[in-house]
Amino acid sequence: MPYSVGLQAASAALLSAGLPVLFTTAIIVLLVIVTVTSSLQKDVADAPARLPIYSLFAIIPFFRRRFDFLNWGFEATGHSAFQFDLLRNKVIVVSGESARQVFFTAKGLDLTEGFKILSGAIPMVRGVTSDLQTKRISLIHKRLAAVQKNEQLSMLIPPMLEDSRRLMETWGNSGSLDPFDKVYELIFQLTVRSLSCAEISDDPCVVSRLKKLYDTLDVGTTPATVLLPWLPTPAMVKKLWATKEIYDIVVTAITARQQSGVSKNDTLQMLLDSGDEKLVVVGFIMGLLIAGARATGTTACWMLTFLGGHSDWREKAKAEVEGLLTSQYLSQNSPNDSLSSQLAAIPLETWETETPVLDSIIRETLRVAQPHTAMRRNLGPEMHIDGKLIPSGSYVVYPFSDVHLNPDIYHDPWKFDPNRQPETKSAYNYVGWGGGKTICLGQRLARVELKIVTALFLLGFRHSIVDGSGKFSPEPPLPNWNDILLCRPPEGSFRLRFERSGTVL
Ligand code: HEM
Repeated sequence: MPYSVGLQAASAALLSAGLPVLFTTAIIVLLVIVTVTSSLQKDVADAPARLPIYSLFAIIPFFRRRFDFLNWGFEATGHSAFQFDLLRNKVIVVSGESARQVFFTAKGLDLTEGFKILSGAIPMVRGVTSDLQTKRISLIHKRLAAVQKNEQLSMLIPPMLEDSRRLMETWGNSGSLDPFDKVYELIFQLTVRSLSCAEISDDPCVVSRLKKLYDTLDVGTTPATVLLPWLPTPAMVKKLWATKEIYDIVVTAITARQQSGVSKNDTLQMLLDSGDEKLVVVGFIMGLLIAGARATGTTACWMLTFLGGHSDWREKAKAEVEGLLTSQYLSQNSPNDSLSSQLAAIPLETWETETPVLDSIIRETLRVAQPHTAMRRNLGPEMHIDGKLIPSGSYVVYPFSDVHLNPDIYHDPWKFDPNRQPETKSAYNYVGWGGGKTICLGQRLARVELKIVTALFLLGFRHSIVDGSGKFSPEPPLPNWNDILLCRPPEGSFRLRFERSGTVL
């Protein structure tokens, strides 16, 4: 199969590399030549300002300290747009209201192509990920919409609550936890439950293996693996290997289902019953698991962290959920039922339309702690943003910090205040779920996941923030936007202290 041939070729090339010093020198020389030749190119009059450094020095900070790097770029050039080269790729960073408007709506700016080169968490493997062309991607999006239809999404609520109960039980009666460890793990389980199949989500060992493999992909995303994906560095080989193992887990589950002849009520069954080719089924599960778990996991970790540091909002949210439990829908429940089964009786529509407090908490959490930098490639023709040229084939990036942490739009922007409204009126002054032609396609699922996990946690536990030495901290930590995945503060700098409230989960 082309997939494993690709992997073998990569490992063989690595093993035969024999002369590491020569090899490294050759790569450095190559990088310098590429960088110097691209820096020597003359810019046209309407080109965005260039960074006052050799582009070679932009590579590491773009991947490792993106928030600081992009802010520095605006400051150093004194312009609202600037450009730099990532090897042979021209990258233009834009900011400001009118740029935002064009960025989210321009026809030629393509999200998939932008993401492929500038993010690169999943290696492009021939026969699997690289062959997911536009046609297949739109089919995957169509299937994602099907998972979120009323009936399908309603069906997912009880098993997701049961998963949450099972994992929260393992936390014990009291103690402290790192949300980026435990809460993230919980959301990963719910994402696997909702987007794959019983064969995987019912087996804690397989789920844990899968999570480790996805973590390997994240940690292994180095500038070299993104910009020189053909280069068989140890990090790249590790990533390819992790991708192959994820692929094997998914394919084994699909084959088991097909061979059993037993139909189950889950997303895999819906995909198989739709008659899609295997590449679409595998691509759906492999791609959306990572897209879904990362963003939802980050948000859940931060929601519980902010609520731990803001007891007023914690109490408001808790009262809202308690109100749902005593409402008319739940007359059939007995107060002796477990919390998870009481919550499972709340209809989807109620979760979606009668939880304004949770909605405002989600919205504010995404504003302060979602370190997204949107990326696009201009598939052509050339265009202008704020009078600056965006050539065909170039990459355009828009950091969400430009709007969400902008003091003119959000006064005292680092402050967590779910009551707030933007100071200015504009269609793009909040882009937590995207904007224009790229709106999040998993939003409905993500919101329900976030609400049920928060509800079960708030009713089942009391919690607060403690610092690294275990002392009560009146303030939640500041989100670290340089961590492009989780916004995670330095490890060990804080924890959530919790105590069970005495009600059966
Ligand atoms: C709290 C959780 C989530 C947040 C905050 C979030 C946020 C976003 C944002 C901001 C975008 C637009 C990105 C851009 O313009 O560059 C986006 C796109 C997307 N999201 Fe989400 N997302 C979340 C969860 C999910 C989940 C659970 C799934 C899938 C199950 C998902 C699937 C997608 C897809 C497929 C797109 C691409 C849409 C397109 O190509 O037009 N997201 N999301």
